[in-house]
Amino acid sequence: MLAGRFPQAWLDELRERADIVQVVSRYVQLTPKGARYWGLCPFHGEKTASFSVNPQRQMYYCFGCHASGSSVNFVMEIEHLEFRDAVKLLAEQVHMELPQMVESRESAASRSEKERLYEANRQCARFFHAQLWKKENEQVLSYLYGRGLDDGTIRVFGLGSTPPRIDGATLALREQGFTDDELVRAGISVRRDGRVYDMFRQRAIFPIIDAQGHVLGFGGRALGDAKPKYLNTGDTPVFNKRLGVFAANLLKKQRGLKRVILVEGYMDVVSLVQAGVPGVCATLGTALTIEQARLLKRYAPEIWVSYDGDAAGQHAILRALDIFEEEGVRARVLDFPGGMDPDEFIRAYGPQGLEQLEPMEATDYRMKQEMAGHDLSTQEGRTSYAIACSKYLARVKEPVELENYIQKLMISTGFTREVLLAQIGRTELIAKDRQATYRRAARPLEEKAEGVDMETSTAEKQLLLLLAEGRLEAGAVAADDFITPQRRDMAQKLLSGMTPGAILEEIDDEQERARAAQVFQRDSGADAEQELRMAGDCLRILHRKRIEQRIAELTAQLPGLKGEDKRSTLLKIQELTKERQTAGRKE
Ligand code: UTP
Ligand code: MN
Repeated sequence: MLAGRFPQAWLDELRERADIVQVVSRYVQLTPKGARYWGLCPFHGEKTASFSVNPQRQMYYCFGCHASGSSVNFVMEIEHLEFRDAVKLLAEQVHMELPQMVESRESAASRSEKERLYEANRQCARFFHAQLWKKENEQVLSYLYGRGLDDGTIRVFGLGSTPPRIDGATLALREQGFTDDELVRAGISVRRDGRVYDMFRQRAIFPIIDAQGHVLGFGGRALGDAKPKYLNTGDTPVFNKRLGVFAANLLKKQRGLKRVILVEGYMDVVSLVQAGVPGVCATLGTALTIEQARLLKRYAPEIWVSYDGDAAGQHAILRALDIFEEEGVRARVLDFPGGMDPDEFIRAYGPQGLEQLEPMEATDYRMKQEMAGHDLSTQEGRTSYAIACSKYLARVKEPVELENYIQKLMISTGFTREVLLAQIGRTELIAKDRQATYRRAARPLEEKAEGVDMETSTAEKQLLLLLAEGRLEAGAVAADDFITPQRRDMAQKLLSGMTPGAILEEIDDEQERARAAQVFQRDSGADAEQELRMAGDCLRILHRKRIEQRIAELTAQLPGLKGEDKRSTLLKIQELTKERQTAGRKE
């Protein structure tokens, strides 16, 4: 197995040879227009091309869904691969041999410990599965049959049974050469009063397997009413239940999924898969995390959240919708009638029943849930409901969609369209001659805070763009000219010769990557002389901003200073103020 990291020089060569246009062309039909290529975005359904590939910058960017990155990111997303596997695939395509790996920061020792724990888990899963077919454990097998599962499904998931002895798994694995320490660290065994027993007792076993096929741990279902209903492997060196999902191994095998159905329970996944429903997975006994949302969006352009219909489930749905929204993932809600969970529903109505369910838009679901908290028979209740819903509607970008929701809200609250639009902060949608009346009442839409003012931000973006176009003279701009740390870092990398694509590749957070990618979307479109003048303007702005920052810092210190210190600080402020005036002037 490959371990460690790819050498930097080798990666650089791969990036050069795996040209982004060629890589993307394998999957998307591209048409050249200007300095870019355009096609239909493979990451979200669309009919007009908003997916752009820029060969000079070695990056792609979708104006619709903001997917962005380098050729490696592209392969990761479209093939559902980890970084390492995407790189390997690209190397194969351009006929580059895989290099000698360099040792990663993770020490060889801790890596081999992980390998040992994976192996222990794998052997343990085989042991549990073999137990299932034994006479002495027939109670577990009939429990699974009783829940409607057939042998094929049991094999697909590798379901198992605990053995009769309280240390049966421990003994079997010891015999295979695993130490008690290893078994305890893997979460397979527990130590009590100096003796070592099995962690799982009298349970049906659901192995948790990641996309690479590693067995990470287990969920164990009690056969009757024993508590806890499900016992899960705790955190171990190879398992963190906040990072993965149940059935990731099956998800990975399914190409071209239109949506992923996210459910709450192991049994829900197993039942739906048995009924032939593709793209199903579950969280591992915790609420959805950002990491899981990120993982899921690699598998499909859309997620259908499908939790239990009880109060806890409904609350969890709202949370999950927020998390998906934060991650820029389209998410809808699949609501089952009569408070059934997915397992119960599929057994009652079959896959045809599921196909007839129409997923609910996130905003519809939020408005519906919000309704329960307000008494719409009173003016006060209708007002507070309208205010609450306006918060959701402020996030709806498409005017046509917004219009639909406004219509509904008008009916349930009795407010006029104009008042609701003003409350939402979309006065531009109100007829021109009536705008002024409503604008005063409107609150501005939330903007992404960057920690600096617009002028600084614009100047920095312009400079980055000019740098990326590579037409600024050497030495014209330095990384230190930038004020925001993230852009200073980007400038440093551009100056060291990295392409925008390669820079984006190093940004793991997709939102942040999309924001960085946006900087490179414009073309400055200016001639060389004009560009230099623009760059000069930007530099002057940034210089002035830095002086202003310094003045503000010193001014803030003044109240705490006395005597000589105060005098010299005042002098410095004076000097800076003078400098600021010259800095603001054009040459
Ligand atoms: P549910 O209580 O909804 O159970 O828990 P379920 O999936 O419908 O289970 P069945 O159908 O009765 O067998 C949903 C999920 O929450 C976690 C498990 O991951 C479970 O699948 N859970 C639940 C636990 O981790 N521990 C528990 O004690 C209960
Ligand atoms: Mn259930």
